[in-house]
Amino acid sequence: KVDRINIAIDGPAGAGKSTVARQVAAQLGYVYVDTGAMYRAVTLLAQRKGIEPSQSEALRALVRDIDLQLIPTAAGQMIMLHNEDVTEQLRSREVTAQVSHYASNEHVRTKLGEMQRQLAEQKGIVMDGRDIGTHVLPNAELKVFLTASVEERARRRHRELTESNYVPLKQLEEEIAARDKLDETREIAPLIQAGDAILLDSSHMNIEEVVAYIVKLSQSKLMEVSQ
Ligand code: CDP
Ligand code: CDP
Repeated sequence: KVDRINIAIDGPAGAGKSTVARQVAAQLGYVYVDTGAMYRAVTLLAQRKGIEPSQSEALRALVRDIDLQLIPTAAGQMIMLHNEDVTEQLRSREVTAQVSHYASNEHVRTKLGEMQRQLAEQKGIVMDGRDIGTHVLPNAELKVFLTASVEERARRRHRELTESNYVPLKQLEEEIAARDKLDETREIAPLIQAGDAILLDSSHMNIEEVVAYIVKLSQSKLMEVSQ
């Protein structure tokens, strides 16, 4: 009897994917996997080693030998890179500015995609990213494409800033739009809504409403597949 499903949540930056996916996983007793953090970890390591996004062979070797551990925690997910906790560093402006360039590399995508599929083998996974419903888990029982207007997404990210990392709202909006464009137009596994994904525009929804909606969808899906 089927008692767990996999849930894929894709969408552009700042749509609320990680916040929502984490809470959906907590409510269902599932494991949350943040695939963006994996691309960020590759970016951090490449930057430390001085490897540019265009150095494809060097990136191939880098991901071949990478030691990346995802550890589910109460707060979401901790990322260990070669036994160092890099969870906080992965959100830095330096990493954010470059991640989409590294994420367009074929070797990086192949390796991380394999790791992600392995993590989802046991079912009971809520995975967020850009290509989860289209490429990584095309058979996920529930797929949500979560979005919001770019203005609203920039406002959300702006509210997270502190004095030490302050950026004007307009600049943040431009950076987000530029990253979305790179993600949407890259050749391999671009950001696009899967044909069988449910589109959810959260521009006028708060976190609780989005979480409740996805939990309800999961419960109906579970009833459907367990019959
Ligand atoms: O949190 P935010 O939405 O700003 O970004 P993220 O989810 O941490 O993802 C960072 C970047 O990783 C994205 O802009 C994509 O370039 C890349 N990414 C990807 O290509 N495929 C995924 N499944 C997840 C992230
Ligand atoms: O993972 P993604 O980049 O899609 O977005 P996030 O980091 O989960 O959410 C970006 C910010 O928007 C967070 O500070 C959330 O608390 C906030 N948010 C919101 O205000 N309303 C929502 N419906 C969803 C998220």
